Amino acid sequence: MKSIISYIRVIAFMVISFYLLEFAIDSGDQMAITKYPILWAVLTMLFLFAVAVEIVAESLKSVLYRGLSEEAQKQYDASEAKRKSAQFAGIKRIYKNLLGSRPIEDEGEIVLDHNYDGIRELDNKLPPWWLYGFYLTIVFAGIYLVRFEVFDGTNQAQEYENDVEDARIALEEYKRTAKDLVDVNTVELLTEASDLAAGEAIFNENCVACHKQDGGGGIGPNLADNYWILGGGIKNVFNTISEGGRDGKGMVSWKNDLKPVQMAQVASYVLTFQGTTPAEPKEAEGELWVDPNAEPAEKAQEAIVDSTAVDLSLVD
Ligand code: HEC
Repeated sequence: MKSIISYIRVIAFMVISFYLLEFAIDSGDQMAITKYPILWAVLTMLFLFAVAVEIVAESLKSVLYRGLSEEAQKQYDASEAKRKSAQFAGIKRIYKNLLGSRPIEDEGEIVLDHNYDGIRELDNKLPPWWLYGFYLTIVFAGIYLVRFEVFDGTNQAQEYENDVEDARIALEEYKRTAKDLVDVNTVELLTEASDLAAGEAIFNENCVACHKQDGGGGIGPNLADNYWILGGGIKNVFNTISEGGRDGKGMVSWKNDLKPVQMAQVASYVLTFQGTTPAEPKEAEGELWVDPNAEPAEKAQEAIVDSTAVDLSLVD
């Protein structure tokens, strides 16, 4: 393979074959070449084939050339030379036009008539590539101005907010589909009606025998008051349901019977009893539960003042 064109042809052939293979072979979200390593062999074969074709074509040419008379050989050489010089002529012309420089022989036409100690100045035109780039920036500035100053284009802060919002929606979607992933560390109070209804169904099926339908308590403690033996709040309640109560008290572990999402649902449902008054409430057992995350009113106020101070310093 002597000419550069043959190399380009082989490379182009390989690239096209590669994409055709990737396109034609269904390999899921993996690349076909990683899923089916045999394709490497196929590509190697294709490569050898392409090289062989190039070599055969070339030798054919040289055999034919040698078969020509001397006259014809000269003619052929001349036409080859002409073809070569014409190669890429279009691109060369465009390149030259974009530079817009005057050939050195014509410089006399654009030299300015001042002369400082032999230093003279050429009145070159701006190179077209630069000039068109400059016009483009003017057009861009116009569009930008109208879009963001006249009409309401999104600025970076809004773009950021939009992205955060998109991520939030995606996260919620993910959580909805991956609810079974909850455990005691990630469980959160579910508030959607469908979850609470599911929780209620689970409660009525498994728990009313000991806790009563309204959570008033029987064998098990009252679930409607603020007093908890094993701790209140979604995490503790989830944990109690998952792991069971103290040994021998009668509250078994439910983690083998209920899926994590079901435990989260019934735990959330149990917490809806809070503040209701059951028909025959069992007396309170355990300790008054205060949510450690809820900040006392005074502290919360302080925190707000603090955060404004921080904001102001940021503005400075
Ligand atoms: C066999 C009776 C029984 C059943 C059925 C039962 N529990 Fe209990 N439950 C108890 C007892 C007894 C306790 C107290 C455990 C202790 O003192 O350690 C308790 C405690 C609890 C507590 C903690 C109360 C506290 O004050 O800390 C929660 C929450 C709870 N149960 C929810 C449920 C849920 C939800 C179900 C149904 C999936 C259920 N229980 C089924 C008997 C039962």
